[in-house]
Amino acid sequence: MTARRKLIAGNWKMNGLSAQLGEVSAIAQLAAGRSDIDVALYLPATLIAPAAPLAGTVLIGGQDCHQEEAGAFTGNVSAAMLVEAGARGTLVGHSERRAYQQESNTDVAAKAARAHAHSLAVILCVGETLETREQGDEAAHAWVVEQLRASLPEGASPDWLTIAYEPVWAIGTGKVATPPQVAAMHAALRTALVEALGEDAGNVMRILYGGSVSGDNAADILHTANVDGALVGGASLTAAKFAPIVDAA
Ligand code: 13P
Repeated sequence: MTARRKLIAGNWKMNGLSAQLGEVSAIAQLAAGRSDIDVALYLPATLIAPAAPLAGTVLIGGQDCHQEEAGAFTGNVSAAMLVEAGARGTLVGHSERRAYQQESNTDVAAKAARAHAHSLAVILCVGETLETREQGDEAAHAWVVEQLRASLPEGASPDWLTIAYEPVWAIGTGKVATPPQVAAMHAALRTALVEALGEDAGNVMRILYGGSVSGDNAADILHTANVDGALVGGASLTAAKFAPIVDAA
């Protein structure tokens, strides 16, 4: 079996003002005691610069970056801007952006490539809706594998790219996918990565699970085959809720 270092990542989404920066410091304290895993926080763009000096070993990242270098794209943030603010990574293709900003797989691949061109580590998110899941497990696997293939950037490498499987029906709903559901999807994604990238890279690339991860279910999820970490929303907003997830890794 290939040893992959676990990554526990928090996604604050559109939450957090400077009053919450103390939580970044507290999460940095948690991470400081754990040289065996990686910890990352994907913050609102406005918090990246003030959070970066507090973060210690925690990777601070953005939640999206635009696929173009610069220009007339009102309201967007570029990869270079993230880097200048102190980010070392970014999410791309989160289901909330795919749904609310109509981002396509082609957009997501281009965003990942642009972020990599600026030396940002990238987490590429994939996941099926409830409607697709209700068509059965095989249909869900085929759908997510196709979404991954179509979103993978040119030159994808485990040196800078991580995959996050986040079933849309499990995000913010308290309905976590069961360990067998997660194991089966991650196995399908692993096979697809090996096909796309070859044995070495495909076996080394990390696949995270996200969707209602909490202190109560983290141990079960994190001990599931092919689960190399977690992408945590609500439970990453405070160190108190994030700590048991870090402990479970
Ligand atoms: P929740 O942990 O709040 O379900 O969010 C998951 C998620 O979307 C992380 O990116």
